[in-house]
Amino acid sequence: MEIMVLQGDGIGPDIMDSALAILKVLNERFSVKAEPVPYDIGARTVASGKWNLDRILDEARKYRSILKAPMGDPGIRNKDGTEYGLDIILGLRFNLDLYANVRPVKLLPGVKSPLSGYRNPGSIDYTILRENSEGLYSSHFGGMLLRDEMAIDNQIITRKGTERISRFAFRMAGESDGNPIRKEKIVTCVDKANVLKSFAFFRRIFSEISSEFNDVKSNYMYADAMAQQMIMHPENLNVIVTENMFGDILSDLGAATVGGLGFAYSANLSDTVGMFEPVHGSAVDIAGKGIANPTAMIMSLSMMLQWIGYRKESLLVEKSLFEATGSGFATADMGGSLGTKDFTERIIDRLLKK
Ligand code: NAD
Ligand code: IPM
Ligand code: MN
Repeated sequence: MEIMVLQGDGIGPDIMDSALAILKVLNERFSVKAEPVPYDIGARTVASGKWNLDRILDEARKYRSILKAPMGDPGIRNKDGTEYGLDIILGLRFNLDLYANVRPVKLLPGVKSPLSGYRNPGSIDYTILRENSEGLYSSHFGGMLLRDEMAIDNQIITRKGTERISRFAFRMAGESDGNPIRKEKIVTCVDKANVLKSFAFFRRIFSEISSEFNDVKSNYMYADAMAQQMIMHPENLNVIVTENMFGDILSDLGAATVGGLGFAYSANLSDTVGMFEPVHGSAVDIAGKGIANPTAMIMSLSMMLQWIGYRKESLLVEKSLFEATGSGFATADMGGSLGTKDFTERIIDRLLKK
């Protein structure tokens, strides 16, 4: 099976090299048959005219799995001030209907949380399920800037979109082990239903769907209160389901509680296609230095392996990574001194012993 590989910008190509080095070992020494097909696609190559969204979508539609490095260059902007390259990311999510953005927030072995009292791996372990096909972000391809005097972006919440993401959340919680201490399977609907009609609608539909799932509890929290909960009592969380923009913001907050963006990985799923990528961006401030943490990219690969049916190999990758971080191997963001390549080598050493 062929995998579309998007190399991205900034630290993208470096951390993708790490994931591909691991995939190579899996192809050569394990029973994985997944051939990466690399594409030099990112903000740079779109800005240079080498690629455009239509051609990228034509290519992407040939694949069931896409492994994507971070993209974006804050220095390349449209006239309206938005970033040029982001049409690719949002274009893929929206046009391939990758409506479920699964973003685990999980404390890994050997990684320090800045929250006191959360020392053990797994003491923070929940998932932010971000609605990925509508919400405020649907205005990216619409929106209006008038005479440099007025700008409008609209939020779209549909019944269909809310029903499918809510069902996805309940199924995920049902298959999970529940929250870390109480082992309670619970979906928390996060919105601002106190203020906006669109969110009150989101909440009402979520509530209707909750009655289809007897084995999973549900509750509600406003997005502002959730920001506090994620810092003060993350152990109460199992699955959070929320609108696109809230999911974006809360997922970086969640990442900070488990060691930073280098540990935040994700899947963008439709019912048939999966795109797997770090939550973080192209980290232009450290690009070219060879010091980026490849964990989120490698964990995204692991999610992809699971998605295409290589469950055993996906767990082996995670185990090798956890053994490396658990033994104190660390990149700069973790307080260590290993570069991207050396850190990846330590993981591969362990994988080769499996
Ligand atoms: P960013 O996530 O790139 O970086 C934020 C901070 O976290 C930086 O200090 C960076 O050095 C650090 N960081 C991020 N990933 C790291 C890693 N793996 N190892 C070590 N440190 C890491 O966010 P930003 O600076 O706001 O955005 C940079 C660019 O990336 C922008 O163009 C933005 O639009 C884009 N972006 C793309 C994606 C994506 O492709 N899905 C996601 C987020 C941002
Ligand atoms: C993310 C990013 C993207 C988003 C941007 C780069 C389009 O921040 O994947 O979290 O806002 O969704
Ligand atoms: Mn983001």
